[in-house]
Amino acid sequence: MAEHEFPPPAPVVVERRAVDEDESRRANGPDWDRYADEYQATHGAFLGDAGFVWGPEGLTEDEAGVLGEVAGRDVLEVGSGAGQCSRWVRSRGGRAVGLDLSHRQLQHSRRLDESTGVVVPSVRATATALPFADASFDVVFCSFGALQFVADLDVALAEAARVLRPGGRLAFSITHPTRWMFLDDPGPEGLTAVSSYWDRTPYVEVDPATGEVAYVEHHRTLGDWVALLHAAGFVITDLLEPRWPEDHDRVWGGWSQLRGRLTPGTAIFAADLRG
Ligand SMILES: C[S@@+](CC[C@H](N)C(=O)[O-])C[C@H]1O[C@@H](n2cnc3c(N)ncnc32)[C@H](O)[C@@H]1O
Repeated sequence: MAEHEFPPPAPVVVERRAVDEDESRRANGPDWDRYADEYQATHGAFLGDAGFVWGPEGLTEDEAGVLGEVAGRDVLEVGSGAGQCSRWVRSRGGRAVGLDLSHRQLQHSRRLDESTGVVVPSVRATATALPFADASFDVVFCSFGALQFVADLDVALAEAARVLRPGGRLAFSITHPTRWMFLDDPGPEGLTAVSSYWDRTPYVEVDPATGEVAYVEHHRTLGDWVALLHAAGFVITDLLEPRWPEDHDRVWGGWSQLRGRLTPGTAIFAADLRG
């Protein structure tokens, strides 16, 4: 098999059904372990080994400036994958550390530590139980990282608030909530609304051989995010909905130029912890 060629994924049955935090974590850790090699081979060059991209539109933190000043700051990346974004923070003088559920993603992070010489100290853990002391970070961020994979989002946001210092910033990108109405299809099929925006039932992939949940994503409406952030003690300072650049024709999953010209694919929130 040629390098960067991967076997077709095992067939799964797609459903919308209730899944709790334990089941989400039990599914998503091994799923990211299985998918990590392909993910990094497919998207690594676009992300950049020490680059900070907020989503498939290609908006970078250099352009967006959502985190604020990072030099001299303690920064935690939740759902850090191979740590590309944290490496960007480190290259700008921030003390970034990574956290991810997937052992294989973290092995890729080590690989990039060695090849770039920019080391991101990282830990295997989950967003709902951060293994850090209270008030130890100035910034917590997440680029399509853990937040849409957890059932107990209130717990994950409370954990982010706990480890932030007063006035600290939380910034994260997620699939734009409006995208959940559509099939995850980059072509014309992905332009017709097929589900209710208000249906929060998780997207679930089930292994037909075992009947076990193999992958889960959780959907919240924009109003849910506002309410949850407020309840966790944050004041929202920004909500970016990046436009699809005219000259950008890269397809990433359900993200494409065709859809990006018409509907937002990514939402980026910035919120500060009330002092
Ligand atoms: C789409 S990847 C994004 C990774 C990285 N931010 C990037 O831009 O490549 C999502 C990451 O979230 C991690 N993840 C999923 N659920 C998590 C959880 N409950 N706690 C921590 N990380 C989680 C996955 O292992 C995966 O590495």
